[in-house]
Amino acid sequence: MFLRTILSASALLFTSVFAQTACNNSPSLCNKAYNNVTYLGTHDAAFLRDASTNFNTAGNQFYNATVQLSAGVRLLTAQVHKYNSTSGPIEWHLCHTTCSLLDAGTLESWLGEIKTWMDANPTDVVTVLLVNSDNASGDILGEQFNSSGISRYAYTPPSSTTLPKTWPTLDNLISNGTRLMSFVASMSTPSASYPFLMDEFTYLYENSYENESPSEFSCDPNRPTNLDAQTAKSSGRMFLMNHFLYSTQLFGIQTPNVTYTNVTNAASGAGSLGNAIQNCTSVYSKPPNFVLVDFFNVGPAIQAVDNANGVTSAQGRKSVSTALVDETASRSAGTRSTGSVLAVIVAVMAAVGFSM
Ligand SMILES: *[C@@H]1O[C@H](CO)[C@@H](O)[C@H](O)[C@H]1NC(C)=O
Ligand SMILES: *[C@@H]1O[C@H](CO)[C@@H](O)[C@H](O)[C@H]1NC(C)=O
Ligand SMILES: *[C@@H]1O[C@H](CO)[C@@H](O)[C@H](O)[C@H]1NC(C)=O
Ligand SMILES: *[C@@H]1O[C@H](CO)[C@@H](O)[C@H](O)[C@H]1NC(C)=O
Ligand SMILES: *[C@@H]1O[C@H](CO)[C@@H](O)[C@H](O)[C@H]1NC(C)=O
Ligand SMILES: *[C@@H]1O[C@H](CO)[C@@H](O)[C@H](O)[C@H]1NC(C)=O
Ligand SMILES: *[C@@H]1O[C@H](CO)[C@@H](O)[C@H](O)[C@H]1NC(C)=O
Ligand SMILES: *[C@@H]1O[C@H](CO)[C@@H](O)[C@H](O)[C@H]1NC(C)=O
Ligand SMILES: *[C@@H]1O[C@H](CO)[C@@H](O)[C@H](O)[C@H]1NC(C)=O
Repeated sequence: MFLRTILSASALLFTSVFAQTACNNSPSLCNKAYNNVTYLGTHDAAFLRDASTNFNTAGNQFYNATVQLSAGVRLLTAQVHKYNSTSGPIEWHLCHTTCSLLDAGTLESWLGEIKTWMDANPTDVVTVLLVNSDNASGDILGEQFNSSGISRYAYTPPSSTTLPKTWPTLDNLISNGTRLMSFVASMSTPSASYPFLMDEFTYLYENSYENESPSEFSCDPNRPTNLDAQTAKSSGRMFLMNHFLYSTQLFGIQTPNVTYTNVTNAASGAGSLGNAIQNCTSVYSKPPNFVLVDFFNVGPAIQAVDNANGVTSAQGRKSVSTALVDETASRSAGTRSTGSVLAVIVAVMAAVGFSM
């Protein structure tokens, strides 16, 4: 009996000393509070510029959610739209501005892809942020979380209207099986049936996302409106730092500035992600909680995030090319017609002032 106790005690010691589990790719993050970590986020994570979309220039990422997560991305964002189906029930799709421009399929299937990844990666905390473009109710969105199966991982905050004073550590979230954080921008009324859906601006603030030149990057709060830096800081909200550039083409069409991404996503240098993290860290006395980038693999953006977290030897990531994907090669192999039709649609949208 006594021996057995000693044996199991040493087994426990062995486990904790020699087989340290990584949380979000590093043991050093396990005992940090959820709001004390910097997460790499993919802006418009579902909108791909790859063969599946015929290299649609409205796409913001070269690689899908599975590849993003495996490479270290821990926040994924997308826009949810009501899908105008000609027959059958209403569907909720991830569409870029409109479903005729870029339709990435149903919210349910995308959440299912993330859930599958989480099944296989049990020590990772993942955050999803949905832009609620057509004002879907919390019940509608919650149903998609439920039917995809991902709701089994969802964390429910103590209050849907008040910020918590402290957030659980990554370890707590992992051991409690509640390692999915779900934010919606915005939700007019929290859902009683799906209390895990959190209204983004109750818990977070963001800087401006509408930048065309590195000189426009700012740490100032932009949403929610009427929040200055001091108030944002003392409110206890988490900070989501947008860091990507648009480029305005002929007819005022806005697309991601893809050619400059190697500078924008770099760990250091003028206009870089690393530089912006440093700037905003000095404004808010702590690094941003989330940084949101286009074409996350370029830079690679994860380097600046590791620096912010003090992570030097990340574990269990799959590497992904840091290059821009060369669409010209693939374009010439495929048809160009989709591209031209899209260009016309983009032009029409630009005329009414959309951006992506
Ligand atoms: C947050 O991180 C700082 C710096 O590592 C540390 O001093 C502080 O105790 C942490 N707080 C929580 C709640 O994890
Ligand atoms: C994601 O991309 C990878 C690499 O291209 C591919 O193997 C995988 O099938 C894709 N997954 C989904 C769910 O589309
Ligand atoms: C659905 O159709 C309406 C009316 O034609 C239009 O205003 C809306 O933008 C369409 N929604 C999407 C997601 O395409
Ligand atoms: C969104 O929908 C809710 C009902 O679910 C409604 O009360 C609210 O006014 C709507 N907001 C907008 C901006 O349409
Ligand atoms: C873990 O889950 C239990 C039951 O849902 C809850 O009471 C507890 O507060 C959770 N712990 C943390 C750290 O979130
Ligand atoms: C979510 O789905 C489960 C079955 O998978 C069901 O038991 C539960 O009632 C659903 N939750 C809601 C709020 O509908
Ligand atoms: C991308 O941004 C850089 C830096 O502002 C600028 O020099 C370049 O012209 C932009 N490219 C496009 C296509 O807008
Ligand atoms: C970014 O890519 C351009 C074009 O390939 C190259 O000239 C430039 O040196 C690169 N900049 C950085 C910071 O890697
Ligand atoms: C960082 O702040 C400096 C000084 O205000 C500014 O010149 C620079 O453009 C900022 N860089 C970024 C990426 O925000």
